[in-house]
Amino acid sequence: MNAMTRLATAVSLVSLMPLAALAGEVEVLHWWTSGGEKRAADTLQKLVEDKGHTWKDFAVAGGGGEAAMTVLKTRAVSGNPPAAAQIKGPDIQEWGALGLLANLDSVAEQNQWDTLLPKQVAEIMTYEGHYVAVPVNVHRVNWLWINPEVFAKAGATPPTTLDEFFAAADKLKAAGFIPLAHGGQPWQDGTVFEDLALSILGADAFRKAFVDLDEATLTGDQMVEVFAALNKLRGYVDADAAGRDWNIATGLVINGKAGMQLMGDWAKSEWTAAGKVAGKDYQCLAFPGTQGSFAFNIDSLAMFKLGDAENRKAQEDLARTVLEPEFQQFFNQNKGSIPVRLDQDMSSFDACAQKSMADFKEAAGNGGLQPSMAHGMAASSYVQGAVFDVVTNFFNDPQADPKRAAQQLAAAIQAVQ
Ligand code: GAL
Repeated sequence: MNAMTRLATAVSLVSLMPLAALAGEVEVLHWWTSGGEKRAADTLQKLVEDKGHTWKDFAVAGGGGEAAMTVLKTRAVSGNPPAAAQIKGPDIQEWGALGLLANLDSVAEQNQWDTLLPKQVAEIMTYEGHYVAVPVNVHRVNWLWINPEVFAKAGATPPTTLDEFFAAADKLKAAGFIPLAHGGQPWQDGTVFEDLALSILGADAFRKAFVDLDEATLTGDQMVEVFAALNKLRGYVDADAAGRDWNIATGLVINGKAGMQLMGDWAKSEWTAAGKVAGKDYQCLAFPGTQGSFAFNIDSLAMFKLGDAENRKAQEDLARTVLEPEFQQFFNQNKGSIPVRLDQDMSSFDACAQKSMADFKEAAGNGGLQPSMAHGMAASSYVQGAVFDVVTNFFNDPQADPKRAAQQLAAAIQAVQ
């Protein structure tokens, strides 16, 4: 090798050093493990790797995230938390109080997060006024997903009220379809309960029940009506629902075995992954009686304090990437959620995402934005767990009494406060 070649080689190696020197590793804990959700998570991995960093995927299966949170607590207690974890809502305050979360203020200031984000969202991401988490998306929980071909075969009409919902379920059942695709898991039972509660209680009383934890509302006649409706709904779920994962239930509607599913719009990620077109192959409706309300569930990545400078740089690049327009577009188109940036161009999003964004803005203007109780936005994970226990026990007991269940609900919540 002659002198010039040696010099050129040396220069090129040195020029790589600064990039290599700033390349770190981020380990990210999440539970986006269904086919559709993995496609979404992969978009983040690719963008982080494009910045020269190493992505260590810490995916913990189990819809709703209970398993993931158990694993995270074990890692944190052993003094070895991941760089980032899918932590949402009030739980961010609990982790912040432990002093384990990294300060993201510099990234937030450099990238104008205060301007980009809805104020209500920005507040959820801060602990004692400092950013410690970055919001990834805005999911809506109060959706009803319909297979129009199945509805047509059964002569059923897409419902706008609870009475019409049960009438459609009767027609689907009479025609031999599974009326409501469901997975018998506490968080899914809790999601169905939440939709019925929002429909029957209405926005204000829903907030009084699950944000204020008001005993009179939790034990009132309307809450008894919610449990009575849940009792009725049980009759439209098939016998094999126990333990079924949410995305398997979504598959029953996609494949025409079931007529509808009550689920947040992560269900859309499965329709998208199956190549189905919103508004054509499936319909997305506000759950009957909850029109004008938007039960929000914001996925966020909380960042843990790291010792290593290169990994801290990688962690800050991860936080920066999540709020960039490119990620917000590709992740949310695959995840079924809508972007969390107020200025995001929505023109390339499908009909259901357009409807979700329009409903989000309408609800933001009329007090209809509701933090989802079933998805950890309304109250602590302890309150959420107490609700799930009462609701799941009720849902699995055909003899259960709605009035007694409402009293048990209030007592269980009181016991964990
Ligand atoms: C929610 C989470 C969503 C989705 C869903 C099903 O709690 O926010 O992103 O993963 O669980 O697992």
